[in-house]
Amino acid sequence: MPQKYLVTSALPYANGPFHIGHIAGAYLSADIYVRWLRLCNEDVVFVCGSDEHGAAITIQAKREGKTPRELIDLYHEQLKQGAARLGISFDIYHRTSDPIHHQTSQDFFKVLYDKGVFIEKVSEQLYDETAQMFLADRYVKGTCPKCGHDAAYGDQCEKCGSSLDPLDLINPVSTLSGSTPILRQTKHWYLPLGNYTEWVSQWIDEQQNTETWKKQVYKQCQSWIEQGLRDRAITRDIDWGVPVPLPDAEGKVLYVWMDAPIGYISATKALLPDTWQDYWQNPDTKLVHFIGKDNIVFHCLIFPIMLHAHGNFVLPTNVPANQFLNLEGEKLSTSRNYAVWLLDYLNNFPGMEDVLRYTLTAIMPETKDSDFSWKDLQTRNNSELVAILGNLVNRVIVLLNKNFEGKIPDVLPDPRAIIEDAAFELRQYQKALHQNLNGYIHRYEFRNALQEILNVARVANKFLTDTEPWKLIKTNPDQAGAVLTICAEIIAYFAVYLEPFLPFSANKLRHWLLLSDEDIEAIKNNTFTMETGRRILNTNEYLFRKIEDAEIAPYIAQLEAKRQTMLDAQKTVAEATTETQTVATHTPVKEAITYDDFAKLDIRTATIIAAERVPKADKLLKLTIDLGFEQRTVVSGIAEHYTPESIVGQRVLLLANLAPRKLRGIESNGMILMAGDGKTLQFVSPEGEIENGNVVS
Ligand code: 2FM
Ligand code: ZN
Repeated sequence: MPQKYLVTSALPYANGPFHIGHIAGAYLSADIYVRWLRLCNEDVVFVCGSDEHGAAITIQAKREGKTPRELIDLYHEQLKQGAARLGISFDIYHRTSDPIHHQTSQDFFKVLYDKGVFIEKVSEQLYDETAQMFLADRYVKGTCPKCGHDAAYGDQCEKCGSSLDPLDLINPVSTLSGSTPILRQTKHWYLPLGNYTEWVSQWIDEQQNTETWKKQVYKQCQSWIEQGLRDRAITRDIDWGVPVPLPDAEGKVLYVWMDAPIGYISATKALLPDTWQDYWQNPDTKLVHFIGKDNIVFHCLIFPIMLHAHGNFVLPTNVPANQFLNLEGEKLSTSRNYAVWLLDYLNNFPGMEDVLRYTLTAIMPETKDSDFSWKDLQTRNNSELVAILGNLVNRVIVLLNKNFEGKIPDVLPDPRAIIEDAAFELRQYQKALHQNLNGYIHRYEFRNALQEILNVARVANKFLTDTEPWKLIKTNPDQAGAVLTICAEIIAYFAVYLEPFLPFSANKLRHWLLLSDEDIEAIKNNTFTMETGRRILNTNEYLFRKIEDAEIAPYIAQLEAKRQTMLDAQKTVAEATTETQTVATHTPVKEAITYDDFAKLDIRTATIIAAERVPKADKLLKLTIDLGFEQRTVVSGIAEHYTPESIVGQRVLLLANLAPRKLRGIESNGMILMAGDGKTLQFVSPEGEIENGNVVS
């Protein structure tokens, strides 16, 4: 009987598209795992979908001048497309705005409520008087009481990973209005996590003993448990989310982290309306959650506690969380647009999906943060995929077609035996491949698994180079035929075993070698041989192609420019602080004005969302500025300091009520505030998550 598996990838927030950091975190690893399980004929359900509730959505919607519904519709589609085009083989990519999900999470809540699991509390919460709203989660920022990070969210510090309550924050500030919140009373339902401390620590220890969780995942859980698990509010005072299904809860929704993981269940229900219980309510199912490290507490403590309190649900067997991926030595930043966006890559490098999959697997942040660079992608492509795998495949297919009419030749026993001797090492690797890969993959060591295949390809390539069939063909065609047969066989193995990692290339190989389903089963059982007379295709297609320096140069330059802008912005802040005493050497301060004079200036926070050069004007850039409530065109004299592509995503301050004026025929509506010493010019950028359109005063 095949083993039942439920495999989940973290539901990404539908507030932006995928970048490569997401992919390396929770999606590629899950896909390799699932493809492997399917290859082993296990019974797998692989679910994911968009996380469409919570402050992450409403805040971004406001920032983009959209309704939450418009925002999630836009990004849900982009997320779904991106994953599909990279070959992430979800059985379903669902969404939490779906009625099935609302119903499922409300039912789940009701079961816990009826069991008396929740505590109802009226307490004082942070409230923004300007925005007239309670401030939960991402609506409030402040200093983390654990590590001192000054931009921790109300529910979590992204620096130290601590799970927080907004009231824990030192110097809380509303991300809506920038004001300091007051305290106001409100009622909420809480999950008393502390009551489950003993159960959850015992359960984690048992899991650790039977399944070997990743060290860092286990340690994080232990550390949270040691710090003491506190009551956690699982409802919120916002108008976007799953309504709390109680009569006295008008205007309240479920906390996004209460409904999101239930999304795994709703997605399975949507996929298998009649049989979802065979997986979720079956103690023999293995449930594996693939996530990034910032989601550990929710998947290892809170969701298991919810499932346990509900009863009748399978608990996760393992949560192989990955660490983070950096980009060219810097932290990826979506707000600063310092990222490689998946759809951009797929559009710019058509047909090269596997190159990205290969690179991201090779550098997957399995146990510690790792770094992506374009140069590394190019090197891995050129000297591993092209030079080793591609070269091997190409040489074998070409030589068989050129010399043996594209058929496996009939070789006399003696020359075959001589070549089999030379291929001894390769044969050993071939036989052990399945078992070795299986071991690595079940330990979630995808980097090692990929390396294993590449090593075998290296051995095969060396065997081919050492035996030189292109020379043997003249002196001993039987021996040449035997070499090519052995190599064709190992390539057939790659066609099967590369599939979880490089599905597009593996499919091509299967086609070129005309492998049937029976052949594939035989390879998995180690009983396959390339029979005499068997045909292969005569293709002139290559498996991989070289990437030239010029192809990646623009992307490296773009990131470098963005990095420079980020560094400059940091420097500006640092210098502004240290140089206040040396004002005398700077431009003299202008004559005094009254506050009323200043108050006439309407300065707003904003973001540059598009930039282009103004033809025939060396100094001017035409910018599109997002003010939250509207978009404007501003012509700015910064072209000598910034390239258009380096400033898209830059946060700025805009003098919004400057009278419009025409520059080179373009009407400019406002002025971007810059700081400079005559030589250099830098943006004055609002710090943190403060929204566009806020007033600077
Ligand atoms: O961190 C995130 O992007 C969350 N949207 C992950 C949710 S995972 C799950 F619980 F749905
Ligand atoms: Zn912290």
